[in-house]
Amino acid sequence: MSLHDDFRGKKFVVTGGEGFIGSHIVEALLEREGEVIVIDDLSNGASRLKHLNSEKLSIYHEDIRRFNFESLGKVECVFNEAARALIPSFRDPITDLEVNVGGTIKVLDYARKFKTKVVHASSGSVYGNPERIPITEEHPLRPISPYGTSKLAAESYCGFYYRTYGVDVVMLRYFNVYGPRQSVSEEMGVIPIFVERALTRNRLTIFGDGSQTRDFLNIKDVVRANLEAYVAQGVSGKAVNIGGGGREISILDLAKLVMQLCSYDSEVIFKPAKPGDIRRLVADNSMAASLLGYHPQVNLEEGLVEYIQYVKDKHS
Ligand SMILES: NC(=O)c1ccc[n+]([C@@H]2O[C@H](COP(=O)([O-])OP(=O)(O)OC[C@H]3O[C@@H](n4cnc5c(N)ncnc54)[C@H](O)[C@@H]3O)[C@@H](O)[C@H]2O)c1
Repeated sequence: MSLHDDFRGKKFVVTGGEGFIGSHIVEALLEREGEVIVIDDLSNGASRLKHLNSEKLSIYHEDIRRFNFESLGKVECVFNEAARALIPSFRDPITDLEVNVGGTIKVLDYARKFKTKVVHASSGSVYGNPERIPITEEHPLRPISPYGTSKLAAESYCGFYYRTYGVDVVMLRYFNVYGPRQSVSEEMGVIPIFVERALTRNRLTIFGDGSQTRDFLNIKDVVRANLEAYVAQGVSGKAVNIGGGGREISILDLAKLVMQLCSYDSEVIFKPAKPGDIRRLVADNSMAASLLGYHPQVNLEEGLVEYIQYVKDKHS
C-alpha cells in the first residue's frame, strides 16, 4: 500500500495545526487527500493556514485543554503538536505544564474512548545535557528546562495510557527543527533569526561562546517521520528520536555558514548563555530507522539554501 492510500478519505486531527510544524503536517495530509481538523488557540501568533482553501479542512480556534474532542466522533489519528515553547517556560512553568501535559491528557483520553491512534510531538529536550553523543533512546532523561520537564511528563502520560488502556500512541522526540513558517523569535529557533539578520545585514548574536552544538532537522523530514509513524505498526508506547542528518554543527559554525549563504560577512556578537541551553544535542536515529523506516533526506546546506530563498521571496 502506498503512503497515499493510508490517508485518502480518512479523518485526522492536528492539534497546534496553525503552528510551524503542525501547519506542514496539515498540508501533507491534505495533499494525500485526508480530511483534517485543526485545533489551535493561536496563542503562538497568527494563522499559518490562510493559504489553504480546502473543503477537507476544518479549523477550531480553541484551547485544547477545553476543546470537546468527543464532539468530533472517531478519527484515524491525532497528531498532537500543540504546546508552549522553550523560553516562556522559565517565566511561566505552570501554564507550560497545563498546556503541554493537560492538553496531552485530553488527547489521550479522547483516543482511549474512540480507539484513535496518537502521534505525539515530544522533544530531544527530555534528555537534558547528554552524557554521550549521539543520543540514543536509552540515554538518561534529565531535562534542564521546565519545557523539557513538561515534555517528559507528557511522555509519561502517553506511556501510562498505552500500558493501562492500550492507547496506540507513539512519541516522536524531535531535535532542532527548522524550515518555512518557523517563528522569527528568540524563543523559537536560531536558524530563522540568523537568516533574518544576515539578509538584513545586521550582525548575528550568539548566546554563550558558540561552541554548543546541534543536529538541525529539516521540516520535510519531520513531516515524513509523522506520516511514517502513523502508518507504522507495532510502535505503540515507544518514544523515538527524530534527528537530522547526523551532522553536528556548532552555533558559531552555523552563524558562519548562514552568513556565507547570505553573502554577508561580519563579526558576530557574543552575549551570556541562556539558562536551559543544552551543550550538545545530536540524535541517534537508528530506532526511527528500524521502527518507522525514517531516514532524514535533507542535508543542512541544502535545507538552508531553500529556507533562505523562502525568506527572500517572503520579503520581496
Ligand atoms: N520546533 C522545534 O524545533 C521543536 C523541537 C522539539 C519538539 N517540538 C514540539 O513540536 C510541537 C510543535 O512545535 P512548533 O515548533 O510547531 O511550535 P509552534 O508554537 O509553532 O506550534 C505550536 C502550536 O500550538 C498552539 N497552541 C499552544 N497552546 C495551545 C493550546 N492550549 N490549545 C491549542 N493550541 C495551542 C500554538 O498556537 C501554536 O500554533 C510542539 O509540541 C513542540 O514542543 C518542536
